[in-house]
Amino acid sequence: MTILTGDCRAEMIWHGPYDMILADPPYGDTSLDWDRRVAGWLSLARDALKPTGSIWVFGSLRSFMATADQFDEAGFRYAQEIVWEKQNGTNFHADRFRRVHELAVQFYRAEVPWRDIHNTVQTTSDATARTVRRKRRPAHTGHIGAAQYTSQDGGPRLMRSVLYLRNCHGRAIHPTEKPVALLETLIRTSCPEGGLVGDWFAGSGAAGEACRMANRRYIGCEIDPAMAELARARLAGLLPFGDGGTS
Ligand SMILES: C[S@@+](CC[C@H](N)C(=O)[O-])C[C@H]1O[C@@H](n2cnc3c(N)ncnc32)[C@H](O)[C@@H]1O
Repeated sequence: MTILTGDCRAEMIWHGPYDMILADPPYGDTSLDWDRRVAGWLSLARDALKPTGSIWVFGSLRSFMATADQFDEAGFRYAQEIVWEKQNGTNFHADRFRRVHELAVQFYRAEVPWRDIHNTVQTTSDATARTVRRKRRPAHTGHIGAAQYTSQDGGPRLMRSVLYLRNCHGRAIHPTEKPVALLETLIRTSCPEGGLVGDWFAGSGAAGEACRMANRRYIGCEIDPAMAELARARLAGLLPFGDGGTS
């Protein structure tokens, strides 16, 4: 568990290859001083990623549209996205919807087939019992097994792509801190157990805490020295993996 201080473009390339990269860069959607898009990091991240790895990038639709060609140029292919829904949000405009969601989008190296990318499908244990009947197929398609099956209450079902999780307002050490549980879901999906996660815009180090919960190794990078120090202190205060009922 390491937090580097400095520019991820200079620091993170020396610590890979990463099984998975998380990136929560400034979105560049506002005129706030700290909200400036960072140029040139995507191709560096791609080179630092294992061929079987993938990258999850946080952003708004506006930020992804503004940078779409950079993902192409860096050699990334789109895989999927999740929507993080929070209990409250930001009101930049009085004449628009109150914004209570953010996106996290997964990309992988364009030359690698999706079937080779590490992907542990996440499920929830809340299926409702039902009987599923398969349509009859024409005889020439051959034997297709039982014509129906019955699932059980409380069984696994695919996790939904909209995740409702309260944000960290009131207890956050960073103004745009992401919930650990959200990051943990992405990490469990895309990094093998014991694998290395690179967090290129670490902020509070929340992803480091998620890695501890999920038993993955972690290297984060934060350009603001004071924030990097807070993140380091946060990670230093965590229990070892398995010592909190997390194993
Ligand atoms: C959106 S915040 C990340 C928040 C983080 N995910 C969390 O949960 O706390 C983006 C962070 O990236 C940092 N940053 C901006 N440019 C950077 C760069 N070139 N290298 C490393 N960190 C950078 C900012 O200081 C800021 O803390």
